[in-house]
Amino acid sequence: MRVLITGAFGMIGRKLTTRLLKDGAVAGGKISALHLQDVVAGDAPSVLCSVHASDLAVSGEAEKLAALKPDVVFHLAGIVSGTAEADFDLGYRVNVHGTLALFDALRRAKNSPRVVYTSSIAVFGAPFPAIIPDDFHLTPLTSYGAQKAISEAILADYTRKGIFDGIGIRFPTICVRPGKPNGAASSFFSGIIREPLAGQEAILPVPRDVVHTHASPRSAVNFLIHAAGLDGEVVGPRRNLTMPGVGVTVQEQIDALRAIAGNNVVSLIKDQPDDTIWAIVKNWPTRFDAKRARDLGFMAERNFEDIIRAHIEDELDGRLHH
Ligand SMILES: NC(=O)c1ccc[n+]([C@@H]2O[C@H](COP(=O)([O-])OP(=O)(O)OC[C@H]3O[C@@H](n4cnc5c(N)ncnc54)[C@H](O)[C@@H]3O)[C@@H](O)[C@H]2O)c1
Repeated sequence: MRVLITGAFGMIGRKLTTRLLKDGAVAGGKISALHLQDVVAGDAPSVLCSVHASDLAVSGEAEKLAALKPDVVFHLAGIVSGTAEADFDLGYRVNVHGTLALFDALRRAKNSPRVVYTSSIAVFGAPFPAIIPDDFHLTPLTSYGAQKAISEAILADYTRKGIFDGIGIRFPTICVRPGKPNGAASSFFSGIIREPLAGQEAILPVPRDVVHTHASPRSAVNFLIHAAGLDGEVVGPRRNLTMPGVGVTVQEQIDALRAIAGNNVVSLIKDQPDDTIWAIVKNWPTRFDAKRARDLGFMAERNFEDIIRAHIEDELDGRLHH
């Protein structure tokens, strides 16, 4: 199996790479090459890997990747929600034109790979029912959500045409995101867990009764790998799937943190309303049914404490540092 990951040096891309190298196989086949593409340069973690530093949206770059004739493509490269909202041009250039450039290059290369595309629950827009069903309409209320919805439609159409075999997976918010805060409007959902666990203050910019759905980075990688091996016939023509996750209020997130790490850690969370973040987050979906994905075998954590434990195990060597 020749595997291509775009956005390979991002948060999820790095974790996916580590997991694929550990497994040595994907979609039922042994991995013979792992091509890591990103606009930022990174190191090849194994002799199996080759690094391709390029901007997907620049003419001719996607063709170089398609010429590698990948059997499986994980398309992760993208501009995250807050940044796509702040920089309209950049969001459309990368999230739409970059995606279309990749898909068209794969069309010309004619080897019809499995393409796993990372979409987002931001394709949905308010007003929402209490639990969002799988067939809820796509009416995004951010540029990022619109860019993901456009790409989902193209993915489904290219699949229908037999150009490639696509599966779009709509991630819930991936939490706890390791490292530094990023340009995603959802960044604080991770910050209020990650920073206090590291003994640092965290800002909570939205009300505590906000409901949101989360899955761990570990689950995100599981989703991607599971999607790579799915039988397209079983999935049928609706190729974009809402992933399962844990739907909780911010207060429930904080209660789970208290149960695991105690009051002193929780006291590091400071409520500080931010109108810009609230304007984005208030239109975000809350809870999902995700029945199709669960029936197809996608699995996430059962509760928010499990999500915090996954972070402690994967990022903090299993130890609380306080
Ligand atoms: N993390 C989440 O909560 C979440 C939720 C929903 C969807 N997603 C989607 O999953 C994907 C991966 O997310 P992540 O959290 O790892 O994001 P990330 O920002 O950590 O990684 C994205 C990577 O894409 C790269 N990139 C940006 N522009 C590029 C370009 N023009 N050409 C090539 N590479 C480019 C960046 O350098 C970065 O390394 C993204 O498409 C994101 O929109 C993430």
